[in-house]
Amino acid sequence: MNAENMEYLTIALPKGKLFKPSAELLGRIGYEAEGLSEKSRKLVISNEEKKIRFIITKTADVPTYVEYGAADIGVIGKDVLLETGKDVYELLDLGFGRCHLMMAVPKAERRERLTDYAHTRVATKFPHIAEMFFTRQGMQMEYIKLNGSIELGPIVGLSESIVDIVETGTTLKENDLEEIVHIVDSTARLIANRVSFKMKFERMNAMVRDLRAILESGAEACRS
Ligand code: PRP
Repeated sequence: MNAENMEYLTIALPKGKLFKPSAELLGRIGYEAEGLSEKSRKLVISNEEKKIRFIITKTADVPTYVEYGAADIGVIGKDVLLETGKDVYELLDLGFGRCHLMMAVPKAERRERLTDYAHTRVATKFPHIAEMFFTRQGMQMEYIKLNGSIELGPIVGLSESIVDIVETGTTLKENDLEEIVHIVDSTARLIANRVSFKMKFERMNAMVRDLRAILESGAEACRS
C-alpha cells in the first residue's frame, strides 16, 4: 500500500436503492464529500480535508473493489455479497435495504411439493445462491441467469419459476406470482478489505464504533 493510499480511506458505494441510505448514514458520522451524488458523472469524489475518497460503482461490483483493495470499505446487500462469494470482512449489519430472496411460481400453475419442480428451469439474478439452496434440497435445476425483470421468466415461458428479491411484494402480486419458499434474508452490510482492516485498523474501528452507536440509538428510539 503506497503512502497516499495509506492516508486516504476509500469507500465504495453502490448505485441504486442502497446509495441514498448509505450516503446519509455515513454523513451522520462525518463521512461526507461535496458533490457526493448517485447522479454524479464523476466516479471518484474526495474530501481532501478528511482524507476520504468515495467511489460509486455498479452494485454487483462493490465486493470486487473491496476484495482487491481498490476500496477499503464498501456498502453492499447481503444478497449480492452471498452471490459473489468475495473474500472480505463483513463488519456491520446496517439494517436498511431489508428484503429477502425467495422462490416464486405462477399462482395458476402451483405444484404440490417443492420437489415437483426438480429438473425445471429457474430464472434468477442469483444463480449461486439458488444452486446452493436447491442442492441442499437434493434438487437439480436448470439455472437461467437474467439481469433484471426476473418475474418475466415464467410469464413468457422462459422458466417454470424464479429465485429473486422481494421487498414489498408488489412486483409478485402485479404479475400473479406466488412465493413458495423463503430462502434467505438480506440487509445492507458494511464490508472491508482484509489487509486494509489491519493497516487502517484505528480509523476503521472508530468508523464501525460510530456507526454502531447510531444504529443502536435508532433501534432504541424504535423500541421506546
Ligand atoms: C427488484 C427485484 C424485484 C423487485 C421486488 O428489482 O428483482 O423485481 O425489486 O420489489 P418489490 O417486492 O418491492 O416489488 P429491481 O427494482 O432491483 O429491478 P430489476 O428488475 O432490474 O432487478
